Amino acid sequence: MAILIDGKQLAADVRNRIKEATSKLPRRPGLAVILVGEDPASQVYVRNKEKDCIHCGFAGQTYRMEDCSEEELLALIGRLNKNENIDGILVQLPLPAHINERRILEAIDPDKDVDAFHPTNVGRMLVGKPVLLPCTPAGVMEMFRAYGIDLAGKNCVVVGRSNIVGKPMGLLMLREDATVTFCHSKTPDLAEHTRQADVLVVAAGRQGLISADMVKEGAVVIDVAMNRDPETGKFTGDVLFDEVEKKASHITPVPGGVGPMTRAILMQNVFAAAKYHMGLDTDEE
Ligand code: GUN
Repeated sequence: MAILIDGKQLAADVRNRIKEATSKLPRRPGLAVILVGEDPASQVYVRNKEKDCIHCGFAGQTYRMEDCSEEELLALIGRLNKNENIDGILVQLPLPAHINERRILEAIDPDKDVDAFHPTNVGRMLVGKPVLLPCTPAGVMEMFRAYGIDLAGKNCVVVGRSNIVGKPMGLLMLREDATVTFCHSKTPDLAEHTRQADVLVVAAGRQGLISADMVKEGAVVIDVAMNRDPETGKFTGDVLFDEVEKKASHITPVPGGVGPMTRAILMQNVFAAAKYHMGLDTDEE
């Protein structure tokens, strides 16, 4: 039976460390969250961010807009970029169709880009400079560290190639000297690759995609997906947990695995940005 990687507990540990460190800062870190529209999932995510800010001792500020133009949104980001009490700016995605997402994300000051979606931060990550890292992949890396999983020389397979998860996940593992393979919807024989994986990270958004016969004995299996089961309405991952946990050495549950870590790393990024803005951290560039 696999060791269960407890993302909920790890995330709580990260938040408590941040809370303790925040109490020693000269001012409270500030996070501005912008929510446009009425997407129900986004409303829940934003409320969770507000709770996390309170827990960590941050000054959180949410801008809820039923609707707005791209120009209005750009103007708000411009003001927040200049505001010295705001360390992080997060625009909740997805945005309504009439707003150009790329244009909005690129308007955020890279040093306040706590999602790490700005091309400057993506580039910094690619060349290996210490920066704000994208929350979900950085959360998975924290899981590896916490559970003593060394990636050097391992075959790591990523299923999914999104800009938010798949691509940066592979890069971060490469940085730790793993041999990385990216698989995606056009990969002809997915199982051929996943069976070679010492570490398998799945972020495809396809419920039940990974069965036990696709997993190597003793593999570390990380399930990043959050699918809503159409029959039960419950959240499930891409991995058939009950059968894969019998074969894996470590496995993440859904929910309670990667999701809470994503939230915790966001708080870590806000804290890191705040330290940088206060001149207390010389690591950030
Ligand atoms: N919507 C779903 N996930 C995310 C995320 O990580 N960041 C932002 N800004 N919006 C999201």
